[in-house]
Amino acid sequence: MLTMLHISDIHFGKPYVHEVGEAVIKAAHEMALDVIIASGDFTQRARREEFAQARDFLNRLPKLPIVVVPGNHDVPLYRVFERIFNPYRLYREYISDDLDTVHHLENAVIVALNSTSPLRAITNGRLDSRQLDFCARAFADVPAGISRIVVTHHHLAPAPDYEGGQVMPRAKRAMDCFSELGVEMVLGGHLHRAYIGNSLDVYPGRDRERGIIIVQSGTATSRRGRAREREKNTLNLIRVGEDRIRITHFMYFDDLFGFAPISRHIFPRSGRHYLLDPSSPEDGIALASPVGVPDDLKPPGNRKPPVVPDDRKPPVEVRDERRPAPPDERRPPPPGDGSFGMSAPDSPVGG
Ligand SMILES: [Fe+2]
Repeated sequence: MLTMLHISDIHFGKPYVHEVGEAVIKAAHEMALDVIIASGDFTQRARREEFAQARDFLNRLPKLPIVVVPGNHDVPLYRVFERIFNPYRLYREYISDDLDTVHHLENAVIVALNSTSPLRAITNGRLDSRQLDFCARAFADVPAGISRIVVTHHHLAPAPDYEGGQVMPRAKRAMDCFSELGVEMVLGGHLHRAYIGNSLDVYPGRDRERGIIIVQSGTATSRRGRAREREKNTLNLIRVGEDRIRITHFMYFDDLFGFAPISRHIFPRSGRHYLLDPSSPEDGIALASPVGVPDDLKPPGNRKPPVVPDDRKPPVEVRDERRPAPPDERRPPPPGDGSFGMSAPDSPVGG
């Protein structure tokens, strides 16, 4: 099992909310994580003091591998000379010297790609063919069963309502490439709202069997939430197991002074089209079993119990429903008006 915390769009500067940031740090220490992923926009205006605060924030997280990528707010939008000639100077100084990275974990390889394009596509970002080649080399010798994950700041698939503008130019080319490379999951931010789904929901692509799980994080610590996460802060907890991926979407609540789960998403791992063991105790909930499948093809846990021959079944009393029940079988009327006009539940009442 690989446990990842996914945060994004921290936005140190005016939008940053101190108490929420403190809750993120506390949550990260409580979650028994293997890796933390921060998918860009550490600052609001790429100022030195904002980067210094972001570095302090990262230093207070658990001492784990931290996967980072720059966001469009981490390059100086208004300092044009710097943006043209040295756009990543402060990002490299405070966050990471490398812009495209590969992290090898016990059961996952995470490729983080710098999707910012300081000269051409400042807002919507870009991935170029050199980066797709970098990705291909990183995944070239990864054994089957090891999860292949890509992180970018900009979104490669739109939110369901297309709020937040256009996706990255040539995103479909990138998604087709990732699909061919066996990428299971793409993590991003930028939209300031979460979206957890599958690429096939929005883009069938060349391979309609092999969708890619899309995990967008909202803004973890800033006032810049959008759409249903306006003025909200969210983060994702991702668990990659042997046969499934579980993603829990957490939201900050003022009355808790912390984050609480608001939804959970369970996907079969790549190469598996459905969930084999729907009652896994790790999920804490029972999912629906396969239905309509011949018993001899079902996984063992989902087979029906053998049919008992009729002569061994207990006798069933057949009573004419049109006749009134004998007095001792009549039930008292349901109490109060709690039935909403429907028949009372079939359970004893009164004493
Ligand atoms: Fe952002």
